Amino acid sequence: MKKNKFTGNILQACFLVFGVAVCMPGLHAQKTSLTLDLSKPGAAVSPMLYGLMTEEINHSYDGGLYAELIRNRIFKDNKTTPEGWSLVKDNAADSAAIKLMATSEEHIPYDERNHAINGALSTCLRLTVEKAAGRVGIANEGYWGIPVKPSTSYRASFYIKGTARTEPPRWPWEPKPTTPPLPEIANNTPGPITVSIESNDGKTVYATGTINLEKSIYWKKYELTLTTAAGVQPTKDARFVISTDRVGLYYFNLVSLFPPTYNNRSNGNRTDLMQMLVDMKPKFLRFPGGNFLEGPLITDAFPWKTTLGPLESRPGHKGSWGYRPSDGMGLLEFLEWTEDMGAEPLLAVYAGYSLSGDHVDAGPLLKPYVDDALEEIEYVMGDTTTYWGAKRAADGHPEPFKLKYIEIGNEDWFDRSNSYDGRFNQFRTAVEAKYPQLICISTIADAQYPQIKVTSGKPPAVLDEHYYRNSWDMWENASQYDTYDRNGPKIFVGEWATREGAPTTNLNAALGDAAWMTGMERNADLIIMSCYAPLFVNVNTGTATAPKAWQWDSDLIGYDALNSYGSPSYYVQKLFNQYLGNKIIPVTAQNIPVQNRPLTKKDSADGITSKTVPTIFYAATINDTTGTIYLKMVNTTAKKQTVKINLTGIEKVSPEATLTVVKGSKPDDTNTITDPVKIVPVTSTIKGIKPAFSRTLDPYSVSIIELKTGK
Ligand code: AHR
Repeated sequence: MKKNKFTGNILQACFLVFGVAVCMPGLHAQKTSLTLDLSKPGAAVSPMLYGLMTEEINHSYDGGLYAELIRNRIFKDNKTTPEGWSLVKDNAADSAAIKLMATSEEHIPYDERNHAINGALSTCLRLTVEKAAGRVGIANEGYWGIPVKPSTSYRASFYIKGTARTEPPRWPWEPKPTTPPLPEIANNTPGPITVSIESNDGKTVYATGTINLEKSIYWKKYELTLTTAAGVQPTKDARFVISTDRVGLYYFNLVSLFPPTYNNRSNGNRTDLMQMLVDMKPKFLRFPGGNFLEGPLITDAFPWKTTLGPLESRPGHKGSWGYRPSDGMGLLEFLEWTEDMGAEPLLAVYAGYSLSGDHVDAGPLLKPYVDDALEEIEYVMGDTTTYWGAKRAADGHPEPFKLKYIEIGNEDWFDRSNSYDGRFNQFRTAVEAKYPQLICISTIADAQYPQIKVTSGKPPAVLDEHYYRNSWDMWENASQYDTYDRNGPKIFVGEWATREGAPTTNLNAALGDAAWMTGMERNADLIIMSCYAPLFVNVNTGTATAPKAWQWDSDLIGYDALNSYGSPSYYVQKLFNQYLGNKIIPVTAQNIPVQNRPLTKKDSADGITSKTVPTIFYAATINDTTGTIYLKMVNTTAKKQTVKINLTGIEKVSPEATLTVVKGSKPDDTNTITDPVKIVPVTSTIKGIKPAFSRTLDPYSVSIIELKTGK
């Protein structure tokens, strides 16, 4: 690998952009040039260079990719109030109420007992109708609205039972009810129950149907399809209502509503978001986290076993980002999502450290966690003769999933007890003993945390590095991998992003990302995998009944209940993967202009008085079968910059090339839910290409040139 030469920067002309001196080659300065050496094949580009990272954050699944539309479907999101639910009374003379039942597993009041469906569905919602002068029911507001689209069929299902009143105490010594006795009301519950998707004021019904509630004191699941008419205007200002016009006590649980899903999976994903991901052509999906893997406490780690099987057996769990995940997106759903994208799973297993700082010591105490991880791996890749492979087959996927990488934990550099060395080795030894073909990834990067890295046993084969930076930091560090030791572990950049813009990133962040990615691409023999994070954000700000949807600013893909859009960073990600060869082309750069970087507090403390960073970034790869060259160049400044491009070691190049550009007029230009395509790639044909040609880069732009050498 040739070193970059940011040499000979004769800075003749400087001007101010946003208060920062940008120094450009002046009249007498030498021209900026990039020389691509095609005389011999360069190092191979890792075939898994670009993938995705995901976790339940920012309502990535519930209220995001996972297509379920009902918020709080098993009533466990909040112990004190039926979050997302409200009472519907169409007539002022109606007398009715709703109540959350049996919310505390430690103490269930006497009169709230006997309503569990099973251990997972132990909480429910009761609708008491004492007087039904008109329609009475329960409404769900969805995840910041229910999306209504024309000619669309929605699968609705719910458990319901209707009774007159609860049974009186059987024995005199039983505790007295803590709440006022239920009204004595006629048991009129059997009969039609109306189910509808309607406007929030109830005046417009978009789709409706009925089920016939049987006379029974037992839970029963009812299912129906609701279909909208062709002329319906798309809206998210809608709610889901289950209603009656008869008095009685009605109990509800596991209320579900699914729109059409990607690949028609019954417990599947939103089609628009899936399409955006499929378009990125990711090679792998890192899941289930992130912090979501670890949980706040050791007992909150991703409970993969209770995310399997029918929804009836999924209680959900605490989560790591302030809301309770339904776990509708369970282990099998992660795997099927991966499959639907044509990607490979990169499974992170819980390694005995959680966010609060507690850890489980290596040794006998950790063994159950290691065993649990082995079982999880068996669920993913075991054949159907194994216990967990058979379970996967029973869950509907007999074919084992391809698996190569296992990540042991997440960000274990936070564990300052120095326990990771022992924990990692215990996991690695067990995983390799059972699955010698698997590669274990350490979450502590040598370069970032030399004092706490894994030192026992052989060095980890792969290290996961995480970088959340601003664009200056990205520009300053874009060359960091140029000097990494090629004889050490491979690098997985398992989380990274330029954090500018909210909720999704802006153009400046995309320029930071692109610069950083050129660095990864120039070193794509060392960087075997990388994935941006976080991937998703529900962009809803708070409402009277629902909190702000996101916890983390600067995300890749934004959406509400109805629409979705890609940030400028999304398009950069997509293009970098789309235009990628299989061999690195060594590039020599000359006279790359630099700009002054404002000093940070740390710089000043370290006695640094001035700092410059390049203004142009670049990488080139070639597909050695087709001879197509992919040259990527980033201009981070407000001015056009001309680059001379020399192709050495080839005799001919097609005079026409394809140019794809992402650009904007100012750094904080961005896409939003209401202005989703302000910054998108534009592709054109450029002419006059020769083995030596010049290209002027637009201000604030990422340019990708596809050159045909006609090999
Ligand atoms: O991507 C957001 C969070 O950043 C991840 O959950 C965690 O791994 C990292 O600290």
